[in-house]
Amino acid sequence: MQIAWKKELEIGNEMIDTQHRMLVLLLKKLDLALTSKMDQKIVMGIMLEIKKFTEFHFLSEENLMSELRYPGLADHERIHSELLGVLNVFIAKINRKQETPEDILPQIVSWVANHVVSEDLKIAEYVKNSSYRPIAEDCYALYFKRYE
Ligand SMILES: [Fe+2]
Ligand SMILES: [Fe+2]
Repeated sequence: MQIAWKKELEIGNEMIDTQHRMLVLLLKKLDLALTSKMDQKIVMGIMLEIKKFTEFHFLSEENLMSELRYPGLADHERIHSELLGVLNVFIAKINRKQETPEDILPQIVSWVANHVVSEDLKIAEYVKNSSYRPIAEDCYALYFKRYE
């Protein structure tokens, strides 16, 4: 399947955008491992990378929303925990051989993209106008590469 970072996924917050790029890269890595028929142990290792990185990323966004006193924090947290629940069910089904990663990958890719362009975009829009600022925002320029 076609997995690639797209400009439309860019939401305008450097920290979140950087993490989203990493998440898309991990999905790409899974896709390549599947198409080159890597063994199950390697595929499960990448699934675990995706799960752990997604947990990390969600926490990172939730912390950012707290720093900004973002009014939609509770709703966004609830959506994150539902998505993690879905991901855990996927992984459990793959472990029990009820599903294959090939069947599930397109679903993961589509929920990532949908979540980014709907919910995450709202955070980035809020950041632009909030008088509260993300902690360490002044350091972003040193750590994040700008893609134009
Ligand atoms: Fe996100
Ligand atoms: Fe999110």
